[in-house]
Amino acid sequence: MSGYVPGEQPQAGEFIKLNTNENPYPPSPAAGRGIEETIGRLRKYPDPMAESFRRRAAELWSVEPDWILCGNGSDDILTIVTRALVGQGQLLRLPYPSYILYKTLADLQGARSEEIHFNADWSLPAAFAAGRDDLRLVFLANPNSPSGTVVPPERVLEIAAALPCPLLVDEAYADFADTNCMSLVARCEKIMVSRSLSKSYALAGLRFGYLVAQPQMIAQLIKMKDSYNCDALAIAAATAAIDDQPWLAANRAKIIATRRRLVAEMRKLGFVTVDSQANFAWNIHSHLPAKPLYEQLKRDRILVRYMNYPGWGDGLRISVGTDAEIDACLEKLKTII
Ligand SMILES: Cc1ncc(COP(=O)(O)O)c(C=O)c1O
Repeated sequence: MSGYVPGEQPQAGEFIKLNTNENPYPPSPAAGRGIEETIGRLRKYPDPMAESFRRRAAELWSVEPDWILCGNGSDDILTIVTRALVGQGQLLRLPYPSYILYKTLADLQGARSEEIHFNADWSLPAAFAAGRDDLRLVFLANPNSPSGTVVPPERVLEIAAALPCPLLVDEAYADFADTNCMSLVARCEKIMVSRSLSKSYALAGLRFGYLVAQPQMIAQLIKMKDSYNCDALAIAAATAAIDDQPWLAANRAKIIATRRRLVAEMRKLGFVTVDSQANFAWNIHSHLPAKPLYEQLKRDRILVRYMNYPGWGDGLRISVGTDAEIDACLEKLKTII
């Protein structure tokens, strides 16, 4: 199998880093205080279920704590769900192009994956909801990466109702969107929603994510996780971070304002840029190939994500940085183009 290749994370040299959808602002100061208060207790194992976080997240989404499962990043959640539901030779369905890890997770299980191409307008075709005997799990990144587009919750519910298996809605970027599918979890037991603290809470280095699903599903998924999959520092910081909703609202407003400007300016430079509901934008130039643009930007110490999807095409995914970072990227692109 070919393993998942994460985006470049240069550990030396100064880059304007717009390639892995990190938040350009520091996290809530409450997260740092949570870590400081916990350092003295590192002698002990962490709470295996991260109950403090579960309680806060449950309040936020008006569910009970037993509807929440915490993970070492939302990637851990995706792994737990795949391991629990998809056996060797069984089928996992995913949209294409989307988050590349989904296929790797199927490969790790010795499972098969079925890629269903998005329509040209980034809606999903009927085939995405079609029943098949061996289908065990369907993933949907919503907002999707690399497009930043959203499948409306009504359509997600329709898809889940038609499917013979659970649907995991990966909402890693949903805090930047106008809608989300969280309220569908109570309405349809097949729907599970995963969230990440990496993007909207500016905690990618911490590794914390969680799943919201009905308790009968969570009770089964717990059996698949590492006993202590979230460490004590991460639990403390994540709990403090989701408790600081005013920080989230202010950060979201800044990112959305910069995103609007990025999309408008990229279009002026001749890119076909998709309207994004996430903290990045997907750009295909009307006549210039993407790879040399990426390479030139990198030489100029600006890192964006060059994505090439076999059988589909390539483009540049640019994360929403600070206004100054986006200005620097736009200026460089102007000189290159
Ligand atoms: C669609 C999608 N889901 C999940 C993740 C994983 O996020 P985390 O940092 O919570 O593991 C990413 C990260 O890039 C992503 O793009």
